[in-house]
Amino acid sequence: MRSEIRFLLNGEEQSVKAINPDTTLLNWLRLIKMLTGTKEGCGEGDCGACTVVVADLNQSGQLIYKAVNACILFLPMLDGLSITTVEALRRSDGALHPVQAAIVEGHGAQCGFCTPGFVMSLYAGYENSMADNRHNIQQILSGNLCRCTGYGALIDAGLSAARHCPSASEHEADLSRRKIEYEYLQRAQDDKAMLSIETSEQAFYAPRELSELASLTRKYPDATFLAGATDIGLWVTKQHRQINRFIYLGRVNALKTISRTDDRVTVGAAVTHAEAMAALATDFEGLAEVWQRFGSAQVRYSGTVAGNIANGSPIGDMSPCFLALGAELTLNHAGKRRQLALDAFFISYGKQDRKQGEFIEAIRLPRLGSKEAVHAYKISKRFDQDISAVLMAVWIRRDGQLISDIRIGFGGMAATPARAYRLEQVLKGHDVEQPLPDAAVSALAEDFQPISDMRASSAYRLLVAENLLRKMLIEVSQDNGVKRLYPSSLPPAPDVPKAITMTMIEAGE
Ligand SMILES: Cc1cc2nc3c(=O)[nH]c(=O)nc-3n(C[C@H](O)[C@H](O)[C@H](O)COP(=O)(O)OP(=O)(O)OC[C@H]3O[C@@H](n4cnc5c(N)ncnc54)[C@H](O)[C@@H]3O)c2cc1C
Ligand code: FES
Ligand code: FES
Repeated sequence: MRSEIRFLLNGEEQSVKAINPDTTLLNWLRLIKMLTGTKEGCGEGDCGACTVVVADLNQSGQLIYKAVNACILFLPMLDGLSITTVEALRRSDGALHPVQAAIVEGHGAQCGFCTPGFVMSLYAGYENSMADNRHNIQQILSGNLCRCTGYGALIDAGLSAARHCPSASEHEADLSRRKIEYEYLQRAQDDKAMLSIETSEQAFYAPRELSELASLTRKYPDATFLAGATDIGLWVTKQHRQINRFIYLGRVNALKTISRTDDRVTVGAAVTHAEAMAALATDFEGLAEVWQRFGSAQVRYSGTVAGNIANGSPIGDMSPCFLALGAELTLNHAGKRRQLALDAFFISYGKQDRKQGEFIEAIRLPRLGSKEAVHAYKISKRFDQDISAVLMAVWIRRDGQLISDIRIGFGGMAATPARAYRLEQVLKGHDVEQPLPDAAVSALAEDFQPISDMRASSAYRLLVAENLLRKMLIEVSQDNGVKRLYPSSLPPAPDVPKAITMTMIEAGE
């Protein structure tokens, strides 16, 4: 057990004691370390002004760089990781980093408030060798807002930085920094001591093993489970709530895995959207659009898939997708497990079938058979970084042109994410070459009476859902029943970060 938080900041080891565990990384950087290059804009993960880069090891033990929003990360969540802020990018000879130089040369800044955030997002892309095409850069910058410059110059700056050919001394410096980070992260992985912070008002525990997690949940059944903090961070920064006791799931290795059998993929509770999106792209091709449009790069690097289910939000994006897939949850209560169909998990608005002290350990997704496909559509006002007004996901099994089985999950249509049972019955046996039957439209209206709110009116939601069904039938009929054609209006799915191995560092690559 250890009570001080340890991490690497700009290459220097830090040990932080006696701090409230809900101190955000942003406040600590700006108010304690006086590193004011990292800016505060919205304080809720939306604008990217606070972007810093965190280096971590992936499940294969390879180095990976993640752009994250410092405003909604709590300091103890950084334990064992390596953080880089904009202050550390300048080279030892005073030269700017290639992404900084490219922004200056390409006139990518005016007032400059957003600039450190853009620099850091591009830096993560540069380190992950992802920033070499326009589409990837748009994805990398999906969580950064600029009010004055215009994105063209910033995207061009990213492309120009990717073309930069490092000098021998730059290359040497990059290799040596990566080696320091790598070795630190490996040492931190090997340190199995549980972080345990207890102040007079708050407590934070970061167990490393499932057994430690089980005993914590037995001892503190009323503790708040914390995963990526992309919801909980806002409870603190926007609602000024005080969480008395956190149990952080992000350091339990057993929860960070994605495993496969012949018939199922199992996603652990600490798997982030970025990890799931990269690992499951070929298993569930039809979910690519939803994952690509989930929040922003920063939100996907921090937020977990399980957190998106656990919060029970009626407008959460993954729940309708997983309802359509027929997912099951593994729930764990002080070490005792039970399986529950996701469908049965959502009881009513804000109420899920989860006991106090019980957590989602994993999500089990049936793999697609040869005649099965999944299709998902997100309707929101913006392409990136927006919550859905309506999300429809469809799992379909075909027998030639006929729909032999179908499950349809909706978000934004009811008080919880929900299946469209009546609609499913009508569409079973439907010929996909034929138009949507009137009976399906009536069934949809019986299944759902959506509310009107600031995102959409009730009538709009019903109409858009009806139109999505038509769109889905057209796509399915052109699809030979197996895989979804990626719609031509959407760019291809972005590349995944290229992880760095110790062998690559030692070989000077
Ligand atoms: C800028 C921004 C954009 C966003 N965009 C989207 C979007 O496009 N679509 C969307 O659906 N959501 C979006 N979100 C919401 C959020 O990112 C997701 O809901 C995310 O998946 C939550 O996961 P987390 O790991 O961050 O959860 P946390 O914030 O850590 O926790 C969320 C809730 O789940 C509980 N919890 C977490 N893990 C578990 C577990 N394993 N077992 C039991 N309880 C658990 C926590 O106690 C808490 O109640 C956005 C958020 C932000 C800030
Ligand atoms: S301050 Fe806007 S995302 Fe952090
Ligand atoms: S340069 Fe002013 S907000 Fe981007």
